[in-house]
Amino acid sequence: MQTQPIMLPYQDQLLALVENRIASAVRGVEPDYLRSVLCYATRGGKRVRPLLTMLACGAVGGVEEQAVGAAAAVELLHTSSLIHDDIMDAATLRRSQPTVHTQFDVPVAILAGDTLIALAYKELQATPPERCDRILQVFSGAFLNTCEGQGYDLSLSLRPVVGKAEHRYMVEKKTAKLLEASAAIGALVATGDDERVKALAQFGYNIGMAYQVQDDLLDASAEEDVVGKSIGVDTMNNRQTFLKLAYSNSIDVLVSEHDSKQQLSVLIRRYTRKAHEALRLLPPTPARKYLSSLADSFVDRRC
Ligand code: IPE
Ligand code: IPE
Ligand code: MG
Ligand code: MG
Ligand code: MG
Repeated sequence: MQTQPIMLPYQDQLLALVENRIASAVRGVEPDYLRSVLCYATRGGKRVRPLLTMLACGAVGGVEEQAVGAAAAVELLHTSSLIHDDIMDAATLRRSQPTVHTQFDVPVAILAGDTLIALAYKELQATPPERCDRILQVFSGAFLNTCEGQGYDLSLSLRPVVGKAEHRYMVEKKTAKLLEASAAIGALVATGDDERVKALAQFGYNIGMAYQVQDDLLDASAEEDVVGKSIGVDTMNNRQTFLKLAYSNSIDVLVSEHDSKQQLSVLIRRYTRKAHEALRLLPPTPARKYLSSLADSFVDRRC
């Protein structure tokens, strides 16, 4: 299984298109102060979700570039969720720079997050009119799920014991649903074929789950300068993470922390395998191949 960071032949070109699109959306915002906060907030980031959107478009026979507005929209929404998440988690570092509320203040960080959501919706207005409603429905659904997932993240943190199923439900909502929507929306830009849209949604969901398992592992073991964001915040905030669950579920047999991490590697691979299975329902195209390497590159990502 390939675990190197992905480098697709045209990845740089696709990402450059997204950067330009985000920059031009932000450029139209006033006043200068808010715009400068948005420029700061939108810098950096791996741009995983917009890449997924554009590749999903390519995987159903579209031209990746067609999906650039939708790709910018999912990234803008994601960035907004990170700004607000950093306030909730009292995190000080994000994308290798101080978090927005640390660099500026909490009121403007809340406003910056809200503004990015508005910009995201504006981007979606440019999607194909025949499927724009459906795209908006998927996007709004993912947005609501993200908020609800973040709500569960907070409420489960107040509980001493949490079951596997309710924890998984929280992760689905806070993380996997946006990756699911990112892929589904990319497909919807090019096609109304339910089966293909569903296959890509399933792909996005499964890599999204794998992504959060690894994210939890990174919070417990990464170095801040590698990962570029505050680590150790899950423990500090008593968050219910995959690692905490794996450890507490096996506490009676006294498995080590190392064994808990091994269990999570198995879980990541299981979700990744399901993601690959979903891709099999699509015709073989370069975009499908790149989606496949994208999934593999998440298996032991370091940042
Ligand atoms: C972080 O997402 C939040 C999670 C849902 C795990 P990313 O790791 O994709 O963050 P950026 O966009 O690259 O900063
Ligand atoms: C947040 O999960 C997911 C979002 C919806 C933003 P985390 O709190 O684990 O994300 P990081 O670790 O701060 O990026
Ligand atoms: Mg966080
Ligand atoms: Mg959080
Ligand atoms: Mg995290």
